[in-house]
Amino acid sequence: MMDNGYSKVCTVSELKQNQGKRFLINDVEVAVFKIEEEIFIVSNICPHQHTALIYDGFIEAGCVVCPAHGWMFNLKTGKQPTGARGLDVYPVKIIDDEVFTIIKAKELKW
Ligand code: FES
Repeated sequence: MMDNGYSKVCTVSELKQNQGKRFLINDVEVAVFKIEEEIFIVSNICPHQHTALIYDGFIEAGCVVCPAHGWMFNLKTGKQPTGARGLDVYPVKIIDDEVFTIIKAKELKW
Protein backbone atom coordinates (compact mmCIF):
# COMPACT_ATOMS: atom_id res chain seq x y z
CA MET A 1 0.00 0.00 0.00
CA MET A 2 1.20 3.51 -0.74
CA ASP A 3 1.30 6.03 2.10
CA ASN A 4 -1.75 7.86 0.78
CA GLY A 5 -3.95 4.78 1.19
CA TYR A 6 -3.82 3.66 -2.43
CA SER A 7 -3.18 0.00 -3.24
CA LYS A 8 -1.88 -1.25 -6.57
CA VAL A 9 -4.45 -3.23 -8.55
CA CYS A 10 -2.84 -4.09 -11.88
CA THR A 11 -1.23 -2.50 -14.90
CA VAL A 12 -3.15 -0.70 -17.64
CA SER A 13 -1.54 -2.85 -20.30
CA GLU A 14 -2.87 -6.12 -18.88
CA LEU A 15 -6.47 -4.89 -19.27
CA LYS A 16 -8.34 -5.64 -22.48
CA GLN A 17 -10.91 -3.27 -23.96
CA ASN A 18 -14.41 -3.95 -22.55
CA GLN A 19 -13.27 -7.13 -20.86
CA GLY A 20 -13.26 -7.24 -17.09
CA LYS A 21 -10.66 -8.76 -14.83
CA ARG A 22 -11.01 -9.62 -11.17
CA PHE A 23 -8.56 -8.91 -8.39
CA LEU A 24 -8.48 -9.35 -4.65
CA ILE A 25 -7.42 -6.12 -2.95
CA ASN A 26 -7.30 -5.99 0.84
CA ASP A 27 -9.62 -9.02 0.89
CA VAL A 28 -12.19 -7.22 -1.27
CA GLU A 29 -13.00 -8.74 -4.65
CA VAL A 30 -13.12 -6.13 -7.39
CA ALA A 31 -13.77 -6.13 -11.12
CA VAL A 32 -11.70 -3.80 -13.28
CA PHE A 33 -12.84 -2.58 -16.70
CA LYS A 34 -11.19 -0.55 -19.39
CA ILE A 35 -13.52 1.26 -21.77
CA GLU A 36 -11.76 3.40 -24.35
CA GLU A 37 -9.10 5.09 -22.22
CA GLU A 38 -11.10 5.06 -19.01
CA ILE A 39 -10.68 2.58 -16.19
CA PHE A 40 -13.39 1.60 -13.72
CA ILE A 41 -13.13 -0.39 -10.51
CA VAL A 42 -16.28 -1.82 -8.94
CA SER A 43 -17.18 -4.60 -6.54
CA ASN A 44 -17.09 -8.01 -8.23
CA ILE A 45 -20.00 -9.26 -6.13
CA CYS A 46 -23.46 -8.81 -7.60
CA PRO A 47 -25.92 -7.51 -4.99
CA HIS A 48 -28.65 -9.74 -6.45
CA GLN A 49 -27.49 -13.23 -5.47
CA HIS A 50 -23.94 -12.39 -4.45
CA THR A 51 -22.31 -14.20 -7.34
CA ALA A 52 -18.73 -13.12 -7.99
CA LEU A 53 -19.24 -12.71 -11.71
CA ILE A 54 -19.38 -9.00 -12.42
CA TYR A 55 -15.92 -9.13 -14.05
CA ASP A 56 -17.39 -11.54 -16.61
CA GLY A 57 -20.26 -9.23 -17.53
CA PHE A 58 -20.51 -7.53 -20.89
CA ILE A 59 -20.38 -3.81 -21.37
CA GLU A 60 -23.29 -1.86 -22.75
CA ALA A 61 -23.66 1.92 -22.78
CA GLY A 62 -21.29 2.50 -19.86
CA CYS A 63 -22.88 -0.26 -17.82
CA VAL A 64 -21.79 -3.77 -16.93
CA VAL A 65 -24.42 -6.49 -17.23
CA CYS A 66 -24.22 -9.27 -14.64
CA PRO A 67 -23.96 -12.55 -16.58
CA ALA A 68 -26.06 -14.43 -14.02
CA HIS A 69 -29.45 -12.73 -14.48
CA GLY A 70 -28.79 -9.56 -16.40
CA TRP A 71 -28.88 -6.87 -13.74
CA MET A 72 -27.20 -3.74 -15.09
CA PHE A 73 -24.89 -1.42 -13.21
CA ASN A 74 -23.53 1.93 -14.29
CA LEU A 75 -19.75 1.74 -14.01
CA LYS A 76 -19.41 5.36 -12.85
CA THR A 77 -22.03 5.33 -10.13
CA GLY A 78 -22.44 1.60 -9.46
CA LYS A 79 -26.21 2.11 -9.60
CA GLN A 80 -28.80 0.19 -11.58
CA PRO A 81 -30.81 2.19 -14.13
CA THR A 82 -33.67 2.15 -11.62
CA GLY A 83 -31.38 3.58 -8.96
CA ALA A 84 -31.81 0.46 -6.86
CA ARG A 85 -29.18 -1.59 -5.06
CA GLY A 86 -25.85 -1.16 -6.75
CA LEU A 87 -22.19 -2.05 -6.75
CA ASP A 88 -19.57 -0.30 -4.68
CA VAL A 89 -17.34 1.85 -6.88
CA TYR A 90 -13.73 2.61 -6.05
CA PRO A 91 -11.51 5.53 -6.99
CA VAL A 92 -9.02 5.01 -9.81
CA LYS A 93 -5.58 6.55 -9.97
CA ILE A 94 -3.19 5.82 -12.82
CA ILE A 95 0.52 6.43 -12.53
CA ASP A 96 2.47 5.54 -15.65
CA ASP A 97 1.14 2.05 -16.48
CA GLU A 98 -0.03 1.21 -12.98
CA VAL A 99 -3.58 1.29 -11.65
CA PHE A 100 -4.20 2.13 -7.99
CA THR A 101 -7.30 2.34 -5.85
CA ILE A 102 -8.36 2.90 -2.27
CA ILE A 103 -10.08 -0.08 -0.70
CA LYS A 104 -10.30 -0.52 2.98
CA ALA A 105 -10.41 -4.07 4.26
CA LYS A 106 -13.96 -4.95 5.21
CA GLU A 107 -14.59 -4.90 8.90
CA LEU A 108 -15.82 -8.19 10.15
CA LYS A 109 -19.19 -7.90 11.79
CA TRP A 110 -19.93 -10.42 14.49
S1 FES B 1 -26.56 -12.54 -9.47
FE1 FES B 1 -26.23 -10.81 -10.73
S2 FES B 1 -28.13 -10.54 -11.69
FE2 FES B 1 -28.47 -12.25 -10.42
